[in-house]
Amino acid sequence: MAEKSFKYIILGGGVSAGYAAKEFANQGVKPGELAVISKEAVAPYERPALSKGYLFPQGKPNLLLPGFHCCVGSGGEKLLPESYKQKGIELILSTEIVKADLAAKTLVSAAGDVFKYETLIIATGSTVLRLTDFGVKGADSKNILYLREIDDADKLVEAIKAKKGGKAVVVGGGYIGLELSAALRINDFDVTMVFPEPWCMPRLFTDIAAFYETYYTNKGVKIIKGTVASGFTAHPNGEVNEVQLKDGRSLEADIVIVGVGAKPLTSLFKGQVEEDKGGIKTDAFFKTSVPDVYAVGDVATFPLKMYGDMRRVEHVDHSRKSAEQAVKAIKATEGGGTVEEYDYLPFFYSRSFDLSWQFYGDNVGDSVLFGDSNPSNPKPRFGAYWIQDGKVVGAFMEGGSGDENKALAKVAKARPVAESLDDLTKQGISFAAKI
Ligand code: FDA
Ligand code: NAD
Repeated sequence: MAEKSFKYIILGGGVSAGYAAKEFANQGVKPGELAVISKEAVAPYERPALSKGYLFPQGKPNLLLPGFHCCVGSGGEKLLPESYKQKGIELILSTEIVKADLAAKTLVSAAGDVFKYETLIIATGSTVLRLTDFGVKGADSKNILYLREIDDADKLVEAIKAKKGGKAVVVGGGYIGLELSAALRINDFDVTMVFPEPWCMPRLFTDIAAFYETYYTNKGVKIIKGTVASGFTAHPNGEVNEVQLKDGRSLEADIVIVGVGAKPLTSLFKGQVEEDKGGIKTDAFFKTSVPDVYAVGDVATFPLKMYGDMRRVEHVDHSRKSAEQAVKAIKATEGGGTVEEYDYLPFFYSRSFDLSWQFYGDNVGDSVLFGDSNPSNPKPRFGAYWIQDGKVVGAFMEGGSGDENKALAKVAKARPVAESLDDLTKQGISFAAKI
């Protein structure tokens, strides 16, 4: 059992960890001052690639490591494993922390190693919700797969190869559901997507959903709504062969992908730090209720200044920016200074097939569609605004250009008055472009 001490420890090796490490390097750390501890076997990478380029069929230009290490996703320097060494940062991989004592400022790994810190950044992200957690019968069969980390993606790639051209059932109609249905279809699987709600991506989509459902159907993805997977049966070798649905139907399956949501990994710190809305409560500098402990990315519930509200955000843009903010705040405090409060504009995006959308702001209030949302159009270009208390508070666009996407961000930040919903529909993206 080893004991090691660091001035700073970043716990987690995902997106926030990569961006926090980059910011420490920018601000200047002395060799041996900073460690990144991750249970993953690889250096921090841009997680969104796992449901996109990483799954492209072989022969297509698929995106593999080291191609998507942080921080290429935002056009920054790519930190390869050796880059950490060069910058004097200790990268401690394949190391799961199983105990955290925030009062004693120590972390203990599964192997019993003890890590001491002066300042801790919690960047443990989220883990998937599993059907076994809900007691779904047969949910532990082989080839029922989840996607969070690169190991999961590798298992999925193996299953895609082994069951080439087979049948896939995708359980869940959110981000994973939509991105994975597309990835499996591109890999020539016969794909059926099942979700309980009346339309896909209910977290964000309104009338927009109809476009995506028709587009996916035209691509050959079958969609079953309003029901859930209630059980699975398996071949004698343990591999899944059938999905039973609650509405009585059953579907053959060689592979099942489950994307029924995620939960923030806060359990190590239960009872030791204040929580809010399921996450670790922070201030605008990502400082928690415990001195010298910060929390960033998916696990942080932080003040979303422009809405006067505490929020938790499970998207990559926030994980990058919160990590940078926390490190800037740590360094400024050490120098006796301060940084400005985090003033975040929510930004989400997704890509699948030839589609690409971006959303900025808040999806509350009424929504209106604009543009041509005909799914048969070879280059779909349409959008939506969300209007609350007479003001535009959210903006979405499928197929927007770089300038149009910038206009979405501007309008969501400015929250201008909307004269009428009809007028917004008529003006479309030109309304945002005038801001
Ligand atoms: P993240 O999950 O990235 O990292 C957490 C790290 O902590 C992991 O390395 C984990 O192993 C480690 N860890 C946890 N507990 C530990 C312990 N006890 N000991 C040691 N290590 C531990 N967002 C978006 O805006 N657009 C997109 O297209 C996508 N696409 C996408 C695809 C897929 C497949 C996923 C799973 C997620 C996305 N996201 C996304 C969401 C985005 O990736 C996510 O919000 C960020 O990765 C969150 O960054 P964090 O650093 O908070 O967690
Ligand atoms: P999600 O919350 O986006 O979607 C979960 C979906 O699960 C719901 O929409 C619902 O349709 C479905 N569902 C819930 N219970 C079900 C059940 N019993 N049976 C069938 N369906 C059920 O979560 P996700 O898609 O699993 O994504 C996991 C995490 O990864 C989230 O944090 C998400 O933000 C992140 N992610 C983000 C992106 C992106 O931003 N482009 C892409 C992939 C993953």
